[in-house]
Amino acid sequence: KTALRGYSTTQGLLPTTIKSLYKQISNPPQTVDQINGWVKSVRLLKKVGFIDLQDGSCLNALKVVVPITQLEETEFLKSLKTGQSVSVTGALWNNTPQREQPFELKIADPLNTLSVTGDVSNSYPLQKKAHSIPFLRSLPTLKHRTTYLGSLLRFRSAIEHAISETLESDQFIKVAPPILTSSDCEGAGELFKVASTSGDGYFGKPTFLTVSAQLHLEIMALALSRCYSLIPCFRAEKSDTNRHLSEFWMLELEMCFIDDVHKLTTFVESMLRRVVKSCYDRIDELIPQVDFRDSLSKEEIIERWNLLLSPKPWANITYTDAIEILIEKHKKEPFPKYEPIWGESLQTEHEKWLADKYFNSPVFVTDYPRDCKAFYMKLNTDSPAGRETVACFDLLFPDMGEVVGGSIREDSYQLIFDEVERRNMNRSGELDWYLSLRKEGTVSHGGFGLGLERFVSYLYGNHNIRDAIPFHRSASGNIN
Ligand code: 4AD
Repeated sequence: KTALRGYSTTQGLLPTTIKSLYKQISNPPQTVDQINGWVKSVRLLKKVGFIDLQDGSCLNALKVVVPITQLEETEFLKSLKTGQSVSVTGALWNNTPQREQPFELKIADPLNTLSVTGDVSNSYPLQKKAHSIPFLRSLPTLKHRTTYLGSLLRFRSAIEHAISETLESDQFIKVAPPILTSSDCEGAGELFKVASTSGDGYFGKPTFLTVSAQLHLEIMALALSRCYSLIPCFRAEKSDTNRHLSEFWMLELEMCFIDDVHKLTTFVESMLRRVVKSCYDRIDELIPQVDFRDSLSKEEIIERWNLLLSPKPWANITYTDAIEILIEKHKKEPFPKYEPIWGESLQTEHEKWLADKYFNSPVFVTDYPRDCKAFYMKLNTDSPAGRETVACFDLLFPDMGEVVGGSIREDSYQLIFDEVERRNMNRSGELDWYLSLRKEGTVSHGGFGLGLERFVSYLYGNHNIRDAIPFHRSASGNIN
């Protein structure tokens, strides 16, 4: 405690990282006392050895140059292996602006200045060459050490940070909704039931892992006006696709005094553009240059980001108009699996065609039929009888499909009560706590949920969202 007192920053308190060295390029120190990391590769020439060191703090590796003066040093450098943890002390800084890397560290006397702090086993599977993603998925404890998946962790962190900054600047307050709940927010019956070793449920009461924080966020929005959360959500969907996880993170927002779904879509577009823009300025630091079939190339990724930041507003269409367009297309050239029919959910092939081919832009589809969507959405009172729609939207991205879903919420007690009855949803009163909100200072409000892994994957260019979460849980996956 005494030692910590007086530190206004942590400079000098924590060990030096490779990232902090890169930050000092314009004003480099002469020597670096100590730097730690893992060996990425070793290259030996007759009189000099090169060690690429990584520590995961940034995309860059650090080149350590070791002039060789005696045979023992050659033997020592030869014995170094990829993946070993090492510590280097007393290195000299050497600017090399004309080379690929702008500087290197030079050490003399490696037998005394370079120590292996952790060895690797003979079966250490990662090597300098790029490994395929399916192979890396089989290495849950080591895969994050690769440039591609390590960068993905850093990128996800940068996106979360950019989202928080953007929302805080719009006066949203971050709140902590519960994970254990009694209700099925989406009414889709895709719940994981909680059990304990002493019995079913939460102290005997039926309990589930949350599918969405929305119901609890509505409660908090009616106290704070604007709030958001970023929490894991759980869905026992059997869909084992590259866009579905059993455990995913959802950014959810709820705001009061809003009754127009187009205000919501305009807000979503503005917010996501600001998030992408703030990362665009750091794209070289965030996105590695890779060349393998598990990811888009950097050029293709930049194209995607440019599409999101295009001066043209994102497309916006009602479900009813979208169905008409889809029916016309289906007449000329049928969709392989599903005929588009008013009243039925849009299928992935419909969503992809709309976003990829028809608009080639992110597209908001609004005002879906009431029976395609959840019970809490506000009925469009001007929709024709028999074709009732609700004030909601899905945001579809090209090549990805749905990334965000949201709505204006029904704020009348009687109307939401009637809807819950119509759906036969509140049989044991499990929604009473939520419904009662409409009796206590009800106001118009709305919000949405964004699937973090889908958004991150779209921007990072990885083809399967299970790589955008460090330990994926999905219908066919292992658990560890
Ligand atoms: O459309 P969804 O189901 O909406 C809700 O849960 C609302 N209660 C949110 C709200 O209004 N507060 O899910 C929202 C988003 C989807 O657009 C998708 O991006 C993501 O969550 N999502 C999934 N992501 C990965 N794996 C799954 N199984 C997902 N299910 C939904």
